[in-house]
Amino acid sequence: MKPVKVGVLGLGTVGGGTVNVLQRNAAEIARRAGREIIITRASARDLGRKRICTTQGIALTTDPRQIIDDPDIDIVLELIGGTDFAKELVLKAIANGKHIVTANKALIALHGNEIFAKAGAKGVIVAFEAAVAGGIPIIKAIREGLSGNQIQWLAGIINGTGNFILTEMRDKGRDFADVLAEAQALGYAEADPTFDVEGIDAGHKLTILASIAFGIPLQFDKVYTEGITRITRADVEYAEELGYRIKHLGIARRTFEGIELRVHPTLIPQRRLIANVDGVMNAVLVKGDAVGATLYYGAGAGAEPTASAVVADVIDVVRALTGDPENRVPHLAFQPEALSDIPVLAQGQVRTAYYLRLAAEDKPGVLADVTRILAAHQISIEAIIQKEPHENKTSVPIIMLTQTTLEQEMNAAIAEIEQLTTVSGKVNRIRLETLG
Ligand code: HSE
Repeated sequence: MKPVKVGVLGLGTVGGGTVNVLQRNAAEIARRAGREIIITRASARDLGRKRICTTQGIALTTDPRQIIDDPDIDIVLELIGGTDFAKELVLKAIANGKHIVTANKALIALHGNEIFAKAGAKGVIVAFEAAVAGGIPIIKAIREGLSGNQIQWLAGIINGTGNFILTEMRDKGRDFADVLAEAQALGYAEADPTFDVEGIDAGHKLTILASIAFGIPLQFDKVYTEGITRITRADVEYAEELGYRIKHLGIARRTFEGIELRVHPTLIPQRRLIANVDGVMNAVLVKGDAVGATLYYGAGAGAEPTASAVVADVIDVVRALTGDPENRVPHLAFQPEALSDIPVLAQGQVRTAYYLRLAAEDKPGVLADVTRILAAHQISIEAIIQKEPHENKTSVPIIMLTQTTLEQEMNAAIAEIEQLTTVSGKVNRIRLETLG
């Protein structure tokens, strides 16, 4: 059989890693795919730049449009990132009848509904395993391996940069900015690193995971996102003292009222396996009604881990080339006409437990005022600790864990607590999940 010809858009971290893996493992890949897969063309913004891959035998261009318009190319790998230009290229490539493999989570989360509709009409595949959790085959696991289940919830550490920063700060006491710079140098961080530290990147990935888990359209605009920039060393230490670890999680949960979609720092019990996922590693816990809880772990960013997912998608596409397009695995796991409109809940409707830290005057009745406010909002306290006053300060840190409550009740309670004259500054709130 003729070799399958691949055109690569973008030769940065992921593109370079993909070229390396496809070339190094070419023979093994051909044995799996049943056909030789060769990269014939690639585009890069700056052809003179030093790269992590060799490009011998690959025709290079600075213009990706030449590749998507080339009738000899069967599969286009979109590895340039960003949304506007990437979307234009992908839609044009689809119109030209090319299959697409992409690592672009923002593109899929924001424009996937339109892209999949166009791909379906044209009979081509858009594969995106590398868009979520780097090298972990989580899309395949949920979309195919767990397809007999009703997925009840999933929770994941799905941003390697954020997890790397939290781990280095906790273990080595390093500065936020210093660790972020290292993550950028290692090629983990997004072009705009606020996407990593403010939870946007994790929000994109959660959008995708929730769609394939629950069979709902991609709805990034409904995801609640909160980043890691407000986590202090004190919170990390108090959490440890209480038997918890702070991780930045993406959580999607099906409830009677609707679907929770949220990304935020979360206290989780130290004894959970996922609490011990450190550095750039990612992990996703998925709970199905039949299988129970399952855990998927691996490198969430970096050249070759991400390339591993890209190449697996290329092989899947090659295997499907001769099949009937009607019988392919649907892009979002459920048949397009069977996607459901279950509502996504506003964050105020979400139920979770909380860690609260506040600074209060050290005098009788102060704690009683705080607990009275919580009780008035039907919030039960699970644990309380009062620490020694900080040097030269009259206030003492009070740390509380609450039981599960409605977020809008907690918002109202926090607003009232912050009004107390005996409480100074803001209440620091971190959500808590037992993941049991
Ligand atoms: N910036 C992303 C991360 C890259 O750190 O996880 C992989 O999607």
